[in-house]
Amino acid sequence: MIRVLDDANALAHAAARCFVDKARKAVALRGRFVVSLAGGQTPRQTYEWLAKSPYRTLVPWGKVHFFWGDERCVSWDDPRSNYGVARQVMLDHLPLQPAQIHPMRVDIAPEQAAKGYEGELKTFFAGETPCFDLVLLGVGEDGHTASLFPGSSALSETRRWTAIVQRPEESFSRVTLTLPILNQAHHVLFLVTGENKADIFRRMAAGLEEAGRYPAQQVRPEKGDVTWLVDRAAY
Ligand code: 6PG
Repeated sequence: MIRVLDDANALAHAAARCFVDKARKAVALRGRFVVSLAGGQTPRQTYEWLAKSPYRTLVPWGKVHFFWGDERCVSWDDPRSNYGVARQVMLDHLPLQPAQIHPMRVDIAPEQAAKGYEGELKTFFAGETPCFDLVLLGVGEDGHTASLFPGSSALSETRRWTAIVQRPEESFSRVTLTLPILNQAHHVLFLVTGENKADIFRRMAAGLEEAGRYPAQQVRPEKGDVTWLVDRAAY
């Protein structure tokens, strides 16, 4: 489903409402809400709103567990850190216990961080199918999502839940969730704003390229659904 919102702020409110709705339903059904947060700048406003009224008062925060779709291997205090941004604008303002927050480690080698995160997920979902109640994702201008970039070997991972990505133009490595676990989600919510995303969104939405060409198009949950929140500038 595609929903077009007037602007980035309206989109952030729509995303916050969706977060609240999925959280309340998951807690009612399963006693907890397990969410994977998106990185980048787009979700920042959504995170800010979630830490404010009315959304702050509507989520059973004590039952929420936060994971990340990907992370850049930089210090958590680095403005490029996906965990660091979410902590600064949202997590530090909510009544959460440390055990509810599951950042990807950046103080160890990326190989260890990726392996360790997969282990943490397996422990957390002990014995169950690893299934996020909600996965928030952004989209890059090249159609990447999380840190799954076009042509990346991480895209063809069919078994491991995490992968390491090294882009030639970046001095840092990335750790990303892979399609096998992303496609187990109950709900995926893509957040797309800004005219710089209009070309890639139109290509994916209009099927100008063979379906599935772009990584974001390969996020197709087996049993879940995908909603695209797009502002007018990107539509
Ligand atoms: C990352 C993100 C990435 C992001 C897109 C869009 O860590 O880089 O996970 O997938 O969502 O690049 O980024 P913006 O929201 O900043 O445009």
